[in-house]
Amino acid sequence: MAATKLLVADFATTVKNVPFNYIRPVSDRPNLTDVHISDSAIPLIDLHQLSGPRRSHVIKQIGLACQHDGFFQVKNHGIPEEMINNILSLAREFFKLPESERLKNYSDDPSKTTRLSTSFNVKTEKVANWRDFLRLHCYPLQDYVHEWPSNPPLFREDVAEYCTSVRELVLRLLEAISESLGLKRDYIDKSLSKHGQHMSLNYYPPCPQPDLTYGLPGHTDPNLITLLLQDDVPGLQVLRNGNWVAVNPIPNTFIVNIGDQMQVLSNDKYKSVLHRAVVNCDKERLSIPTFYCPSPDAVIGPAKELIDEHHPAVYRNFTYAEYYDKFWNRGLETACCLDMFKA
Ligand code: OGA
Ligand code: NI
Repeated sequence: MAATKLLVADFATTVKNVPFNYIRPVSDRPNLTDVHISDSAIPLIDLHQLSGPRRSHVIKQIGLACQHDGFFQVKNHGIPEEMINNILSLAREFFKLPESERLKNYSDDPSKTTRLSTSFNVKTEKVANWRDFLRLHCYPLQDYVHEWPSNPPLFREDVAEYCTSVRELVLRLLEAISESLGLKRDYIDKSLSKHGQHMSLNYYPPCPQPDLTYGLPGHTDPNLITLLLQDDVPGLQVLRNGNWVAVNPIPNTFIVNIGDQMQVLSNDKYKSVLHRAVVNCDKERLSIPTFYCPSPDAVIGPAKELIDEHHPAVYRNFTYAEYYDKFWNRGLETACCLDMFKA
């Protein structure tokens, strides 16, 4: 049977089998028994010393992680535990609202700046994904906050506060990453034009046959850098030396990953790494990625300080608007969108 409900949350717990439009072909299934489990899947970096005398040591750790892993986790990041718990409960509350209340926010048009949707891009994809998501643009805040859901009642206020804090953390990380590349501290900040920030509240309901489908199939993030907050249910997996490795959640940490634009700016020194989200039989899972990005008009290309005769520019210059458009329209295919922007 095909799903008759729009959102996965509204049929997930009543079906015994995954509806056929969610079933991946045999060659493209998660093979969950082959996944490696490791507590040190990605480096954990303590940001406490970023503003102290050991700043250069932390910057070196960040640089190594960006180069070799494309992913790292951060602790002592300055975002209070209460704010983290609050945003997770608020997201949970949103996805528990009655179907009719949630659907007021529904749209399958990726150009809308506030929308609830499902899967990835229902207009272009062949197989659907076991995910519902609420996507919000959140910088500059005053341009968007009035569009956000007003239910739960504290949603706008609390999410606005969270976005503002996460942005401060991102800006500190961007300075550190600029320095780790040997660039001026404000280099990345200055290359993003007016900056942009989006977030997604991802809801992955329990799934009767998690081996047949994905929450999100393997992809790289099209933006500059992503800060992922997740609850305590595992699901994120990162590709490492050709193997999928599960990243076990650590409370009060953020997972940071390099996006495609950072790979371009760094002229391939830093890697935008494939990752995916899988689902499980028993437990719903929430994740809240913040996607920090250039504004659409920003012209992105390799930093000229990183180009020389031994390191020619790997990419041409392009606007972020051009890149973003390609990303949403081609679907989440394993081959990276970056290849279309090579010099
Ligand atoms: C994403 C993503 C992973 C997760 O939304 O781009 O990679 O664990 N999410 O939800
Ligand atoms: Ni992602």
